[in-house]
Amino acid sequence: MLPGSFAHDVLTGLSASPKHLHSRYFYDDRGSQLFEQIMELPEYYLTRCEAEIFERYKQTVLQMCEGEKWSLVDLGAGDATKTRIWIDYFYRHRQDFSYIPADISAYALEELTASLQNTYPTLEVKPVKGEYNRALEWIGREVTGKKFVLFMGSNIGNFSESECIAFLHQIRQALSVGDRLLIGFDLKKEGKIIHAAYNDSSGVTEAFNKNLLIRINRELGGQFNPDSFDFHANYDPVSGFVRSYLVSKKAQTVSIEALGRSFHFHPWETIHAENSRKFSLKEIETLAAACGFTIEKHLLDGQEWFVDTIWRV
Ligand code: AVI
Repeated sequence: MLPGSFAHDVLTGLSASPKHLHSRYFYDDRGSQLFEQIMELPEYYLTRCEAEIFERYKQTVLQMCEGEKWSLVDLGAGDATKTRIWIDYFYRHRQDFSYIPADISAYALEELTASLQNTYPTLEVKPVKGEYNRALEWIGREVTGKKFVLFMGSNIGNFSESECIAFLHQIRQALSVGDRLLIGFDLKKEGKIIHAAYNDSSGVTEAFNKNLLIRINRELGGQFNPDSFDFHANYDPVSGFVRSYLVSKKAQTVSIEALGRSFHFHPWETIHAENSRKFSLKEIETLAAACGFTIEKHLLDGQEWFVDTIWRV
């Protein structure tokens, strides 16, 4: 069993006390579909806030980058819905840039590249397939000229503190003096608003978390009954973390064939499934300084619920 594989991480996580699973495994085909649905939910404000920011500041960012040849690197590009707002604007204003979408899904990259080449025939699109670390290594090695890296969507909030610092140092390594990094951070705000975003009334977020158990059943021969687990997501205003859990409703033992093992759950025992951290601007500024960046500009939405912050090496 390879360290870092799904089987290995499930074995480690369910053997630990307290039990945990990593939220990166949410995103199989079904999980990705459920996340698309989450982004459309009335309670899930994050995506709308960020789209508003991209619309609001397209001219500011164009002026920031004018006069240089540069590459727009999109980490975890997906279908680039929000990035297209800038691509479209920069292209129409004859900005001299190339677009480098990085994603783990070859299918998503092919679709995106074909669609962009169709709409913007002279735009140079150079897709990179791989996990973030592989993509960053490639970018550091192969991309010459100025870089503007995008890491949007509050994905940074899904990291633990140590993962977050390690990731930012890795991005820093791939960049040179003068390059830019934009990161989407969800901001601390009234607890009720955050709570509702992770406890939607239609139950999509619950299905998104429970899909992890269904994935273990399908890929590893697990015997989980998702109905015997409750979903619980809780915002802590002190740390800024929303922590999401699957909670065993009863004493149960679940076997997982591919691991050759069973796992016992006490009544109300938890599996930690996801962190979704919220930040203050002060915390963001401390993080930038600790990782070798200076803040160039905070791009905020009208309600100041979300920030895309632009850092410079
Ligand atoms: C992908 N990530 C930024 C989302 C978040 O808000 O933490 C995933 C998510 N989890 C529950 N709802 C959305």
